[in-house]
Amino acid sequence: MNVMVIGSGGREYSIGLALKKDTNIEKLFFAPGNGATTQLGENVLIKDYEKLADFATLQGIDLTIVGPENALVDGVVDIFKAKGLVIFGASKAAARLEGSKIFMKNFLSRYNIPTAKFIETTDAHKAFHFIETLTLPIVVKADGLCAGKGVIIAQSHQEAKDAVSDMLSGKSFGDAGRGVVVEEFLDGYELSLFVICDGENYKILPAAQDHKRLLDGDIGPNTGGMGAYAPTPLIDDVLYKKVEERVIKPTLEGMKKENSPFEGVLFIGLMIVKNEPIVLEYNVRFGDPECEIIMPLLKSPASELFYKAATKDLKNLNIEFYDKYAIAVVMASENYPYDTSKPAEIIVDKAVHERQLEDTHISYAGVSSEDGKLYATGGRVLLCVGVGNSIKEARDKAYMLCGQVHFAGKQFRKDIAYQALKHD
Ligand code: AMP
Ligand code: GLY
Repeated sequence: MNVMVIGSGGREYSIGLALKKDTNIEKLFFAPGNGATTQLGENVLIKDYEKLADFATLQGIDLTIVGPENALVDGVVDIFKAKGLVIFGASKAAARLEGSKIFMKNFLSRYNIPTAKFIETTDAHKAFHFIETLTLPIVVKADGLCAGKGVIIAQSHQEAKDAVSDMLSGKSFGDAGRGVVVEEFLDGYELSLFVICDGENYKILPAAQDHKRLLDGDIGPNTGGMGAYAPTPLIDDVLYKKVEERVIKPTLEGMKKENSPFEGVLFIGLMIVKNEPIVLEYNVRFGDPECEIIMPLLKSPASELFYKAATKDLKNLNIEFYDKYAIAVVMASENYPYDTSKPAEIIVDKAVHERQLEDTHISYAGVSSEDGKLYATGGRVLLCVGVGNSIKEARDKAYMLCGQVHFAGKQFRKDIAYQALKHD
């Protein structure tokens, strides 16, 4: 089977790694890929999706897997399907669940799915009025895609109002902020749940926990995610059942009713408050860094999972995972998430002991290659992944690998999975 992965991050690299283990795979392409995906396959630098679909036809690509939300929101799946290609991902209509927070919140209300109390508006006065009724902190969200930066947790009513004004005027997020959601703050712990869907059937993947804040102890600014682990002990069978009945089923039924049945991977961002699941957001793609730990746990061939999901055949899939844990620690560049950093060469020490190579690997994200050397050129540069029989073992392996990877200005959190370890 020939497969193309759309995207350029650690998420797409990890999908590539999972596919590489698969004996079904002949050729692997990344569009556009990064400086390290060339070690797994061939990078394709075609930006236009119509032309990329023509390339897929010409190369006999049997399956395309879409990583990032922008491509989905821009309708890459619809374009590929119109040309008779098999592609894994949400349609443009279904991608509104992520592309518009206003659509998402109204959808949750229409189907009585638990979510934070909110108002959505383009009118500053209406937003201000609602802000006055809320206790602190207050959450303000831009409607459109903002690369994970469109959520402000305001610590005063004035800060919330300023955030609304800056969004509505286009000052903070351009057109993505021309509509806003203001909502109550939920105090609990977060979980990322991933559901593979084919429009009819679904399969739930091991639940993961991300660490969004830059610094240890969950302080500092929000980032795209600084590390994750799975499966998390913070969800048990009772909670799974609640999520399935109150969130997953009504969401998939609702999308069918709205003539946009959900295909691809639905990422449900949950806040668990007093053992009750409340939806923070949906994403219509894998999380990054969550994908980087779910892929190594996948025992079934990755190509089969994605192909069956993309061809409405999930009911014939018996999906299996290793009975293990995986942890990914993100190594970011010096000025992340505030600014870009100077490119820095990445050096990985040679393993001094065979043991170091077992159950650890690097998933490369913001990297470029030149003259056979790899350089850190993005914000989140790479992820050190460890797999083990316990969370602690997986964590120790991931951090051992962190000690072997060097580039100027590298920064990473030292406490990934602390909530789970506290829980043990
Ligand atoms: P979102 O893009 O909606 O997931 O928001 C990004 C992050 O902001 C989430 O992962 C949470 O950490 C935080 N957040 C969003 N909405 C709320 C809320 N209503 N209460 C508390 N934290 C929130
Ligand atoms: N890890 C969170 C995200 O991908 O949005």
